[in-house]
This record gives sequence, structure tokens and C-alpha cells, in this order.
Amino acid sequence: TRTPVNVTVTGAAGQIGYALLFRIASGQLLGADVPVRLKLLEIPQAVKAAEGTAMELEDAAFPLLTGIDIYDDPNAAFDGANVALLVGARPRTKGMERGDLLEANGGIFKPQGQAINAHAADDVKVLVVGNPANTNALIAQRNAPDVPAERFTAMTRLDHNRALAQLAKKAGVSVADIKKMTIWGNHSATQYPDIFHAEIAGKNAFETVNDRAWVENDFIPTVAKRGAAIIEARGASSAASAASAAIDHVYTWVNGTPEGDWTSMAVPSDGSYGVPEGLISSFPVTCKDGRWEIVQGLEIDDFSRARIDASVKELADERDAVRKLGLI
Ligand code: NAI
Repeated sequence: TRTPVNVTVTGAAGQIGYALLFRIASGQLLGADVPVRLKLLEIPQAVKAAEGTAMELEDAAFPLLTGIDIYDDPNAAFDGANVALLVGARPRTKGMERGDLLEANGGIFKPQGQAINAHAADDVKVLVVGNPANTNALIAQRNAPDVPAERFTAMTRLDHNRALAQLAKKAGVSVADIKKMTIWGNHSATQYPDIFHAEIAGKNAFETVNDRAWVENDFIPTVAKRGAAIIEARGASSAASAASAAIDHVYTWVNGTPEGDWTSMAVPSDGSYGVPEGLISSFPVTCKDGRWEIVQGLEIDDFSRARIDASVKELADERDAVRKLGLI
């Protein structure tokens, strides 16, 4: 029998945690033959709620779940972590400026990066979901200098999946018919969902749809503002779809992208496509043998260039702000 994989989840008592933990325990994060041990991190006030979720996980009798431990200390929670899902974050509250938001999250992601550096397993893979996800990932990564930088990623897979769904609806096809969708930049309203390289049943998606006005005025804003639309409709933020995207992100990273396709992940830039080195920005990536690689050589026209640049500029501003705060 295989040794269990240690999966640390922060913010375990939250909405996303509630949807995410059951799917991890059922084998959907890593594969149906991989046993997992869950290590849950919460703030002290929420430990009791996390214990309640752990009781339910026990009651689900998942054959692959070999244990659950709950912590309020990041050093203990990340000890031996092979996969770390950083979901817990400080949400923006009324009257909070961006600087306040970055500072509050720095107070979470700096110590968590340090704890990962000191205690995680050598093969640790980190996915940051908690917002502002790209910059929180940058803070954690810069505070974990002994961990290879490429192990820190942030989630744009929900945006990617939303883009697949919108394009499938427009074209009257199944999401399974679409390949090579790309989300560029920041997981924020400036993100750029790009269908110019996407394919529908093997043909160029933009040419197939043949509707530039739809791309500009409907598709891009719908994908970028979908989070707000969900809050408006549900009265609560997207949690199950976010958990589902987190499962997809890690599953793809570990098990690879299918031949002839790619996915979107926010990863440390190597300077590709003019994105300044080190920024954690979303790119088209392929995955193989547990490693990601940025897809090279795509032609970027002026329309796409302007949108990528605007989102990357926002990331650079966030980086400068957290640098000023001494967080990186
Ligand atoms: P939530 O508020 O229901 O849960 C967050 C949990 O994190 C709470 O239980 C809280 O106690 C915990 N927490 C706070 N600080 C912590 C710390 N220092 N250590 C451990 N746990 C801590 O929020 P929800 O809905 O689960 O969302 C979590 C985050 O994910 C939010 O930042 C949200 O904006 C973000 N998100 C990101 C998406 C993406 O596509 N990247 C999509 C949807 C949500």
C-alpha cells in the first residue's frame, strides 16, 4: 500500500473548505488510488467548526482518508505537507483600502510561507486560493526561499472553467469540445480570458464564433465579473465551483494536461510574453510529471497585448505595495 499524501488545507472551516475537503478525501484531488491524510489549519475561533467538519468527514467513511488533524499553528499544520491549499484569507471589508487588504493578508501569508519553508516536505506543491490570490502567493513564495519558486501557484482555474462554460454556451457545444483556453494575468477584474488560441472541435474558436463584439462586450466582462454575479444571485460567494477548480488545478498539476491541450495557472513568470520575471501571473501551461511549463510561441495581437499588459501592471503595483510594506 502507498504511503498517504499529506494535504494541508487552510481556512478549512470556511465555505470553500466545506466543499473541498470531501472531494479531497474521496480521491478526486490526486487520484482514486492515492490515500490522503488531511491537516487542517484554522484560526483558534474556528477550530471548533473545523472539528465539526472533521466529524462529518469521518462519517463519510472514505476508504482513502487515513487521518485528519486540526491545528491553529501553521508550523504544525505544514509539517510534512506534500500539497498545501491556502484557502483561508482576510476578505476585504467595508472601507478597506487595497493597502490595508494587502497588509492584512501579509499577516497571514508571510508566516505561512515561513512555516512551509521550515516544515513542508521536499516535494511540496502550493496552491493559493485566498484572495488577492496572486499576490498572497508571491508573499508566501518570497518567504520560503528554500523551496523552489515554481512550487508556488495561484488559482485562475475557476476563471478558466467559467470561460469554457461561456464559450460552450455561445457556440452550442460541450465544454469537452473546447481546448486551449487561456486566462492571462491577475485573478481579478483585470484578468484576460483569451479565445484567440482556443479551439472548438479542432478549429480556431474565435473564427468559429466570428463575433468580436460578443468577445469584447459580453464574454470578457461576463467571465471577469462572474464572481460578483454569483454573490448577487446566491447571496453568498462561489464556493463549490471554487473548490472544484482547486481540485482541477492540483489534479492537472500532478497528473498532467491531456495531449493537445493546456490549462491556466498563475505561476512565477520567467519573463515569457513580457510579464516581468517573478510576478505570479496566469499563463497557458502544460503539465507533465508533476511539473508545469509555460506554453511558448503564441502570437499575441494588439487587442490581447493591451489586456495582458493592463492586468500585469496591476500585479506589478500589488508587488510594489507589498514590497513597501516589507512583506517581501
Ligand atoms: P470563508 O470566509 O467562508 O472562509 C475562510 C476561512 O479562512 C474562515 O473559516 C477563516 O476562519 C479562515 N482563516 C482566516 N484566516 C486564517 C488563517 N490565518 N489561517 C487559517 N485559516 C484562516 O471564505 P471562502 O468562501 O471559503 O473563501 C476563501 C477565500 O477564497 C477568500 O479569500 C475568497 O476571496 C477566495 N476565493 C478565491 C477564488 C479564486 O478563484 N482564486 C474563488 C473564490 C473564492
